[in-house]
Amino acid sequence: MTASIIDGKAVAATLRSQVAEGVATFQAQTGRAPGLAVVLVGEDAASSVYVRSKGKATVAAGMISVEHRLPADAEQAALMALVAALNADPAIDGILVQLPLPSHMDAQAVISAIDPNKDVDGFHPANAGRLATGLPALVPCTPLGCLMLLRSVHPSLSGLDAVVVGRSNIVGKPMAQLLLGESCTVTIAHSRTRDLPARLRAADIVVAAVGIPQMIQGDWIKPGATVIDVGINRTAAGLVGDVDFAGAVEVAGAITPVPGGVGPMTIACLLRNTLEAACRRDG
Ligand code: GUN
Repeated sequence: MTASIIDGKAVAATLRSQVAEGVATFQAQTGRAPGLAVVLVGEDAASSVYVRSKGKATVAAGMISVEHRLPADAEQAALMALVAALNADPAIDGILVQLPLPSHMDAQAVISAIDPNKDVDGFHPANAGRLATGLPALVPCTPLGCLMLLRSVHPSLSGLDAVVVGRSNIVGKPMAQLLLGESCTVTIAHSRTRDLPARLRAADIVVAAVGIPQMIQGDWIKPGATVIDVGINRTAAGLVGDVDFAGAVEVAGAITPVPGGVGPMTIACLLRNTLEAACRRDG
């Protein structure tokens, strides 16, 4: 059996056009466009690429994009002052501070300083807590995008066994919360998990978010399972995911490619969250 390939680009394009329609309605009702501020500290090449593509996508959706750059040696106080100014700026609906921050900065303190209502990354403890308790929340973009891809394959996820590999605050933990909200039976696996292959072989849904190139082997996948690969690993052989795609595609029922799977969904969900934040503030 060969898996069907989940086309993240196509699902993301549909979401982006829905967001653009919502932006037009918001503008007609309020007389202004939603605004997203992206803050980049330092010169990290990969982060610069992400920030540029976020800005382009924001403008393409009809929203206002504001980019702030601070030098790598900026003091934490300068970043906190910028966040405070953006919190107070009525034209700004969403604030995203690109991670990772330089090591002399306290990322958790910065995230906690963002107004939770403008926290389009969904990283603020208030939003994480709201997600965990089933309250309306701004939800982290990558796991939200993964859920949308899963829903494109499974109209209902209820009762399915899901294994999330990776326990980060950005992907693994919120992904597990979202799947729990869909009534999956959820396991979070991580670097100390015993016999990961056996756990994966029992899973209807696998979400891989570990950052280790091609770690998950094809023969660890249950025949017919749905595999969502969050990994974006740059190797000598090019961009690869956390799953050995060539092996897994022979076993799975559906699988995301890298690139062209989860990646495009993350930015589309950022636009969605920005529109949602704007509507909640001013809709
Ligand atoms: N760095 C890598 N992914 C992300 C993300 O989703 N949000 C932010 N702020 N930084 C990131």
